[in-house]
Amino acid sequence: MIEILAMVMAIILPFWNIPLILRIIRLRSSRDISMFWALGVWLCFVLMFPAALSSPDPVWKIFSLVNLVFFSLVVFVVLLFRKKEVAKDMEFEKVVSKRSSVRKYRPESLPRELLQKLAAAGAKAPSARGVEPWEFVIVTERDVLEKLAGICPNGAFLANAAAAIVVFCRDTKYYLEDGCAATENILLQAAAEGLGACWIAGDKKDYASTVTAMFKAPAEVRLVSLISLGWPEEDKLQQKNRQPDSLVHWEKF
Ligand SMILES: Cc1cc2nc3c(=O)[nH]c(=O)nc-3n(C[C@H](O)[C@H](O)[C@H](O)COP(=O)(O)O)c2cc1C
Repeated sequence: MIEILAMVMAIILPFWNIPLILRIIRLRSSRDISMFWALGVWLCFVLMFPAALSSPDPVWKIFSLVNLVFFSLVVFVVLLFRKKEVAKDMEFEKVVSKRSSVRKYRPESLPRELLQKLAAAGAKAPSARGVEPWEFVIVTERDVLEKLAGICPNGAFLANAAAAIVVFCRDTKYYLEDGCAATENILLQAAAEGLGACWIAGDKKDYASTVTAMFKAPAEVRLVSLISLGWPEEDKLQQKNRQPDSLVHWEKF
């Protein structure tokens, strides 16, 4: 009886790896998993396996086999998403150069944590007098995205986006500058995460009041921008018409 219980537990124990594997897949990153830890544990299972295999003890055998299989899977997933991790650690300069307006997205949804991270990047922007007037509405529901696409003709591609962040600001003196600073932070964070994103005009547009009403925003907030988001359908290179040298003036024009 004790042995059967131990065998069942030996099989069940490695299933605790499943949430870890799913989390890596969901976040498309193994950044928070130490390679040293994953490879170390895996190596232990590999080196224990020959002894377990030749042992008459079935619990030890099963424990070793199931753990080896599951942990090999963990290591595989960690390595698979390591590329992404490297991309995330991209130097700032590379992120700035990589960012471009992406309007075509793959259909996969975006993890909630990732969207929250983008909004958090927005909240790290500078704001005039430090008033931090931002309010971000994260949209993931398909019918709402489609509705937004219908309202904003210049953002029709919202219909195929995985999500959008709608940037509102309390109506302060510098609401527009503050909202734009937050928008750019979100775009850069999105680029660093390997996401595709596009800035869609909000302020000054005829539809600003419609969008504001749609989200039941309080009267004192103003729409600054909408940011469409999704995993990019294609690798897009940034293209600029003007070279930095042509627009930089030292000391005077
Ligand atoms: C204030 C602002 C408003 C924009 N509005 C829109 C828009 O409504 N629709 C759109 O497709 N792109 C919009 N864009 C994205 C620009 O078209 C894009 O940044 C520009 O063409 C340069 O391309 P890049 O972002 O790939 O460098 C906007 C960008 C800014 C800064």
